[in-house]
Amino acid sequence: MILQSQLDYFKEVGIWYTGIPSLDASIHTSSFKRFLSREEEYKRTFLQSKLNYAFDGYSFFGQEDSLNQGADDKVFTYVLSDFFEPSKQPQEFWPLLKAQVDIIDQIAELEKELLDKINPQLHSFFENQIGHMLSANYYPPNNLNGLRLTSHPDVSLITVFPFGMDEQFQFEMPEGSWQTIGKTDEVICFSGYLLECMTGIKALNHKVEKDGDQDERFSFAYFSIPRPNQKLDLEKEKITSEVYFTRYLSLFD
Ligand SMILES: [Fe+2]
Repeated sequence: MILQSQLDYFKEVGIWYTGIPSLDASIHTSSFKRFLSREEEYKRTFLQSKLNYAFDGYSFFGQEDSLNQGADDKVFTYVLSDFFEPSKQPQEFWPLLKAQVDIIDQIAELEKELLDKINPQLHSFFENQIGHMLSANYYPPNNLNGLRLTSHPDVSLITVFPFGMDEQFQFEMPEGSWQTIGKTDEVICFSGYLLECMTGIKALNHKVEKDGDQDERFSFAYFSIPRPNQKLDLEKEKITSEVYFTRYLSLFD
């Protein structure tokens, strides 16, 4: 149940500390580790350019042409969406794909509760036009110091961290200062760029940063995103899902 004070804070800052205990990440972590341990040649058969479907697929540290991370980001990611044929995903992720059915149900309930409070009309939009994708992120240990993930808003309507957060996540406050979330064991939700386009609630700008030696770090973020080929009714215009994705990506040109 979202409190009025939490709703007010979300509208102002873009983040909701739900107070709900984080879910069990063990299957996600073991599936992702199994994939990461495979040889690079195998992993690159699942590059975004090979799967050729939106953001789905593997991106590696230093990759120039990833759609979801920059060449300066010190991270390996794998994106899995509702819209891609599960049997074509790496078999290392099949246990995760099974486990996440129930997790996505729980996430969707939370999102609907939040959206109902922001604007009840968003409820049917969410039911009819929205699906989910998971970004699994692995930051290898290094001594490179500083930024691990450059600042950005997410492509999502809402981003949910069902397993809590490890340390080093930072977000921008409305007046421009940066705040750090310590390691937390509660479910966290924050605003994405689609929510900003639809409601004017600003998308949370965020980054991952730590000075000094950096330990390995895993994170799992669920994004609610438009289903393919939808007509989205934004605040000022109607655009397709595909135009929306292009517009989001142009933020980084
Ligand atoms: Fe992000």
